[in-house]
Amino acid sequence: MSDQVKMTALKYGSDRPKAKNPVKIMDLSLRDGHQSLFATRGRTEDMIPVAEMMDEIGFWAIETWGGATFDTMHRFLNEDPWERLRTLKRYIKKTPFSMLLRAQNLVGYRNYADDLALAFVERSAENGMDVFRTFDALNDYRNFETVVKQIKKCKKHFQGCICYTLTEPRLGGEVYNLDYYIKKAKDLESMGADSICIKDMAGLIAPYDAYALVKALKEAVKAPIHLHSHFTSGMSPMSHLKAIEAGVDIIDTCMTPYAYRTSHAALEPLVMALLGTNRDTGFDIKKLAAVNEILEKEVMPKYKHLLDDSKVSIIDINVLLHQTPGGMLSNLVNQLREMDALDKIGEVYKELPRVRKDLGQIPLVTPTSQIVGVQTVNNVLHDTPDERYKMITGQVKDLCYGLYGKTAVPIDPEVQKKALKGYSRGEKPITCRPAEVLAPELEKAKADIGDLAVDIDDLVLYAIYPVTGKKFLEWKYGKTEVPDSVKPITLEEVKKNDEIIKKAKAGLLVEKKTTAPGKTDRVRTFNVFVDNEFFSVDVDPIGDAPVMVAAPRAAAPVAAAAPAAAPAAAAPAAAPAAAPAAHTGPGTVLMAPMPGMIVKYEKNVGDKVNKGDTIVILEAMKMENALPSPCAGTILAIDFKSGDNVAKGAALCVIG
Ligand code: CO
Repeated sequence: MSDQVKMTALKYGSDRPKAKNPVKIMDLSLRDGHQSLFATRGRTEDMIPVAEMMDEIGFWAIETWGGATFDTMHRFLNEDPWERLRTLKRYIKKTPFSMLLRAQNLVGYRNYADDLALAFVERSAENGMDVFRTFDALNDYRNFETVVKQIKKCKKHFQGCICYTLTEPRLGGEVYNLDYYIKKAKDLESMGADSICIKDMAGLIAPYDAYALVKALKEAVKAPIHLHSHFTSGMSPMSHLKAIEAGVDIIDTCMTPYAYRTSHAALEPLVMALLGTNRDTGFDIKKLAAVNEILEKEVMPKYKHLLDDSKVSIIDINVLLHQTPGGMLSNLVNQLREMDALDKIGEVYKELPRVRKDLGQIPLVTPTSQIVGVQTVNNVLHDTPDERYKMITGQVKDLCYGLYGKTAVPIDPEVQKKALKGYSRGEKPITCRPAEVLAPELEKAKADIGDLAVDIDDLVLYAIYPVTGKKFLEWKYGKTEVPDSVKPITLEEVKKNDEIIKKAKAGLLVEKKTTAPGKTDRVRTFNVFVDNEFFSVDVDPIGDAPVMVAAPRAAAPVAAAAPAAAPAAAAPAAAPAAAPAAHTGPGTVLMAPMPGMIVKYEKNVGDKVNKGDTIVILEAMKMENALPSPCAGTILAIDFKSGDNVAKGAALCVIG
């Protein structure tokens, strides 16, 4: 690159000479950036202050939507996802919008039927989406067919992704070698891809592999090559530079306040590094600095409490050691912690590659990372020396049936056979495009939701997220009150909260009693987290108030005779999880093994159940878990309803 640094009197501004072949940049701050750093909680109102300025930078596209935004917005932010698109379009008029589309999974976690997929793409295009970055977790492009047809019909940009994954520490080996990626790129080109993206969701791509891969793809296909790499392992800035040397066309970055850790490399150092070269972005660094200033001072203070600052290091060394996506690892750790089995993490690291291999050496990305992760934990916790796969999740069964698509290598036949024994769709796996076995969904969704869905956008939202979507529509149309937990906070409130926390830390908020009474046997220990500091607090109820879950339990047999009363009895159970063992009434309690949301109950009060029958579907860590009955008997009480959030240990039902 020696001839590229000859220019003198270089300017920071965009008035410097234009490069021969500028690297194009897509900004991810407004989607993957906050998804990676603070659980996708970014609100539209906090994007507006920088929207017009970002439109002036000269980005190839700005990623504004898709991935987890659709889910998070309606579930946790009380925001209509469609409305965000329309709002941002009013401020960002020149720069195209990009979204992450999970192919037939749309913006959810399972394959949806074709009619819903068609409607979703059509509505996204209509509401303002321009570039559809499309991926399939298995790189099975049959899952692209329906959405791609529609993207083309809407005359929008189809960007095809190849999920980048490894089975060795570096590119190569039997499955994920250069030939694999070249073949996938050619497949995408033959499907009409307007550009091709190497989607390195875990930050696995090493600089020299990025060079070799981009070089090979540039020779193999005509479509522009786009590199998406997370910073997680620390390699991505180096990989960006090598990819640029190899001729990559487009690079993904974030504005500095949204960069690094599990997010992406920052834009500003890259702009500076390329200044005056033949790949100079041409961006005005002062304009970038102005955007940064607003993000840093006016936006980030509202979100800093969501940042994981439990670690000093900004690089996740485990990614380098285990080639496992960062998000997946934190899920595994949480899951083990919930089960009080954190000491088994070493076994999980060992079991994970085995499970992945058994399940067809699949890439690890949403939702396959959760599928492999949860099954790995199940194996470590429940398998015995003479029996593996003792507890197989519903999603692994679906995968073995072929419902997610074709795996990179065949699934282990023994595991597949065991998984499909008694499987509801049939014991013989399918080989066709998965959506072909799915019945149309929209009409049924329309019948279910009725007038609560006012237009097609409401209906599509409900069809993809029936439980939380319905809850959102009830808020949207004033049918139920919007809970405080989903309301936005202001900078003033942030300052007030900071003050309170400061006082609490200084011990100024607690009135100390001089003589402590003795602890009773009702004492319960709670973990209290304040601004990432952790306290273990013993709470002992004063007087002879009944322990919270005991009361509804005693009423349970009555509730059985009058089912309508059962959910009402649960109303005072504000913290049933706190004292799950305190059940004193008749019957056995089915407790939530982890915190989550009730999707639905498969049984009603009064139903007879056998041990092992599915009673309730609990959604936790993006997975639906079918919870089996711990014993045979009759359902005496059900304490929650669809859509309720429950803590670990919550009494989900009583069987007697
Ligand atoms: Co990403």
